[in-house]
Amino acid sequence: MSKLHQVTSYLKYWLNAVDKHSLQAPFIYELYTGVIRPNNHQQHFESIERLRGQYKASDRAISVIDFGAGSKVASGNTRKIKDIASKGLTRKKYSEMLYRLCRFLEAKNIVELGTSLGINTLYLANNKNSMITTFEGSPAICEIASHSFQQMGTDNIHLIEGNIDHNLQAFVESSQPIDVAFIDANHRYEPTVTYFDTMLSKIHDQSCFIFDDIHWSGEMEQAWKEIRSHYRVSLSIDLYQMGLIFFNPDLRKQHYTLQF
Ligand SMILES: C[S@@+](CC[C@H](N)C(=O)[O-])C[C@H]1O[C@@H](n2cnc3c(N)ncnc32)[C@H](O)[C@@H]1O
Repeated sequence: MSKLHQVTSYLKYWLNAVDKHSLQAPFIYELYTGVIRPNNHQQHFESIERLRGQYKASDRAISVIDFGAGSKVASGNTRKIKDIASKGLTRKKYSEMLYRLCRFLEAKNIVELGTSLGINTLYLANNKNSMITTFEGSPAICEIASHSFQQMGTDNIHLIEGNIDHNLQAFVESSQPIDVAFIDANHRYEPTVTYFDTMLSKIHDQSCFIFDDIHWSGEMEQAWKEIRSHYRVSLSIDLYQMGLIFFNPDLRKQHYTLQF
């Protein structure tokens, strides 16, 4: 992301973002005050955060495959685990919010595109009644994610190794309706829009998709703008780091920029 784009997009967000006092419609008010905004740190996330801490301290270098948008961590195909853990993962505050969102929506079938070390996946998997299917392309990263899942004793995570561009379609064809999808893999226009289009065939009225890094680049801004304008999307929410879309036709088509 260019520094200028970063500054201008954040300034725009900051100027437009509203809080609960501007929300009139009952669903968005409840969603914001009861799910998005609360920051009540959960005891049962401590073990996940300890694991994150271990990765943040690891000097081990692994080779990774660059799938296109490049890395937010470093260039080249070798990365230290501590660099991935420090700069390439969803932050705790956002993972907690995603966990609450899945719980609120009573999500059973959750898809995550871009597993990385599996820390965010573990948050999603804390919803014990759900099955999380998570996709990661780099074999060395998959190995670490698998270790994360084993270490935490999870039995509701299915890790699919390989390029999402090649294996998402087949997964979607045989999948149950998708309740929640978190799209956090190749942060470029084309794959982002393709992932959205591919998963669209398995949505239902209560489905929710979350896109990470919607303001990361001009390409991502464009993808986010098109996706939230799609005729199937009713409610869209910009939290700057992430964008949420809902498909419920009972909700008025409306876009919110919310403080987070
Ligand atoms: C930003 S990280 C994911 C972070 C993780 N979701 C989290 O919340 O902590 C993106 C990951 O997606 C993977 N990735 C990117 N493009 C991919 C593709 N086309 N196929 C498979 N994996 C991909 C990268 O290897 C990287 O590990």
